[in-house]
Amino acid sequence: MKWRINVLVTPLRAALAACAVAVGALAFAWSGLFNVAATTPHWAITDWFLHYVMINSVKTRTIAVETPDNLDSPALIARGAGHYASGCASCHGAPGRPRSPIIHEMSPVAPDLEKKVPTWEPKHLFWIVKHGVKFSGMPAWVSSEEREDEAWAVVAFLRKLPGMSDQDYARLAMGEENDGAVGGLVAIAHGPQGPAPRPDVLADCARCHGRDGMGRDGDAFPIIAGQSEDYLYDALSAYAQGTRHSGIMQTAAARIPYAEIAALAEHYAAQTPGRPEGAGSPDPALVARGEKIAREGVRDTGTPACSSCHGPSASARNPAYPRLAGQHASYLESQLLLWEKEDDSRGGGPFREIMRKIAFGMTKADIKAVAAYYASQPPEAPSR
Ligand code: HEC
Ligand code: HEC
Ligand code: HEC
Repeated sequence: MKWRINVLVTPLRAALAACAVAVGALAFAWSGLFNVAATTPHWAITDWFLHYVMINSVKTRTIAVETPDNLDSPALIARGAGHYASGCASCHGAPGRPRSPIIHEMSPVAPDLEKKVPTWEPKHLFWIVKHGVKFSGMPAWVSSEEREDEAWAVVAFLRKLPGMSDQDYARLAMGEENDGAVGGLVAIAHGPQGPAPRPDVLADCARCHGRDGMGRDGDAFPIIAGQSEDYLYDALSAYAQGTRHSGIMQTAAARIPYAEIAALAEHYAAQTPGRPEGAGSPDPALVARGEKIAREGVRDTGTPACSSCHGPSASARNPAYPRLAGQHASYLESQLLLWEKEDDSRGGGPFREIMRKIAFGMTKADIKAVAAYYASQPPEAPSR
């Protein structure tokens, strides 16, 4: 005898079935029977499935992502390494710095990236660093829309991570600083404010900027030596409050006690800027064009002469206007391009609106020329 069940699927029945499933799921959620405890890990199949979903999501979403061609630049790698120590090593560990036992109790566990990096292409890593991974604890980049350039710097570092020695990592992430306690791995305690910056706070800045504010590894970090105290104070406060976008500096500034900002501004303003090591000799024609823009402006784009605010000029300038002479060309260029990109929310000080409007109208070629000009100039004596 053959049994046959004939069920006619009508729209009404389908809708009722869907409702029943939804009610069932809601009842299960309401009952509290699902165990959210991280002490009960996922079943192996759930783990596999979640990772499978993640891999496919990353691959599909990166189809149109273009990989920049400068990922082997030592400056980019050093910038990424400096941030890795403050923003990633606390979960993922680093060469010579194993993951904390607490991390092994996460579900999912933040993986050892030395093993994982080779399984991804650079554009996949970029996407993960920029967007983070939902339901896992992997955070998105701070200021992710504005600072894709910084996410790429971290990718440049990640590519070199597999097999990196402890010493190479320490140098890339810490510079000349050798205190293992710095680098974002421990919380900085809030205490009474003295006249000079606290040693632990200054050590963290010095990892990237040096104690002398001259930076390291070519143009990895902007030169902050001898910049005016007002400007340094405004810039640091803006990073700490999130009004100037940089996933690297927002992370560094937000973790220091607010009262330290004045002491740090005073310290770095008192340093004497020098010529950065390895500053190449730029194209003289480009520099000459840049000088013309700096001194006369550009009529077509309504760009004013930069020198009235940024020098070189004979008269005393507003201390809230930053000094550009002797700064890395790549840094000046990137800041001007950022103003064009995020035309309503960039900058730190009270006069940032002025600069935003100027940068917004400039052409890319003019930006390149004027950056080359200022970079070629000898740094001026510290203004305070
Ligand atoms: C709060 C802890 C935490 C921090 C901080 C963190 N991550 Fe993660 N990360 C995770 C977790 C958890 C996963 C696992 C995600 C998964 O398996 O779906 C992960 C996954 C990843 C992956 C994918 C690895 C793989 O193949 O599964 C990469 C790459 C990565 N993180 C890079 C970084 C970088 C770079 C930083 C710093 C900018 C960072 N993470 C900061 C927790 C963290
Ligand atoms: C992980 C590396 C790193 C650390 C640590 C770090 N910085 Fe920075 N800093 C950078 C980078 C990269 C930039 C450029 C950011 C941008 O594009 O806006 C920068 C920018 C700055 C600027 C703005 C320069 C300008 O001309 O506008 C100041 C001021 C500054 N940092 C001061 C500090 C101080 C003070 C500390 C310590 C609390 C510190 N930084 C810690 C990497 C770092
Ligand atoms: C009317 C005054 C004024 C003029 C003219 C001016 N700037 Fe600025 N510029 C500023 C101010 C103010 C800031 C600081 C903005 C902030 O608060 O972040 C600034 C910041 C900058 C920065 C960022 C520096 C750093 O260390 O991050 C660059 C680069 C710059 N200007 C380039 C130029 C160039 C190139 C020109 C000429 C085409 C120019 N500026 C003309 C006032 C001016």
